[in-house]
Amino acid sequence: MKDITIAIGCDHAGYEYRQYIIEAIEEKYPVVDFGTTTPDSVDYPDFAHKVATAVQTKEAHCGILLCGTANGVAMTANKYKEVRAGLAWTIEVAQLIKQHNNANIVCIPARYTSKQQALQIVETFLNTPFEGGRHERRVNKICS
Ligand code: RB5
Repeated sequence: MKDITIAIGCDHAGYEYRQYIIEAIEEKYPVVDFGTTTPDSVDYPDFAHKVATAVQTKEAHCGILLCGTANGVAMTANKYKEVRAGLAWTIEVAQLIKQHNNANIVCIPARYTSKQQALQIVETFLNTPFEGGRHERRVNKICS
């Protein structure tokens, strides 16, 4: 078991994807699951706030958020000072949000990726390091 706790949350659009991702990663990583736990319609900010709070307070090292387009959860999570939530719809973008932006939450558009792609995005996000250097200077300017 790796020493990286991952918070996960979604709305109804990401419900099945969340389940699929948890089953794939929970043997390797401690997962804090904020739901939603049924396919019933819910409001994405309620779940994005929970994941962002877990990352902000360091209850979790990083987070995974899913909604239809990933925009709603990203907009919500990025209200938190310590959060850098990056929207990733391909493997390459998942790499770049870590390498260049040091994202600590990956936001995945469930209605525009397959479940398998979503899992690959998660694995890429978790396994890609921040490059630092000039990117560190830029990341430091986000909150200034
Ligand atoms: C829900 O229908 C949808 O609006 C939501 O999942 C998301 O795409 C919002 O950004």
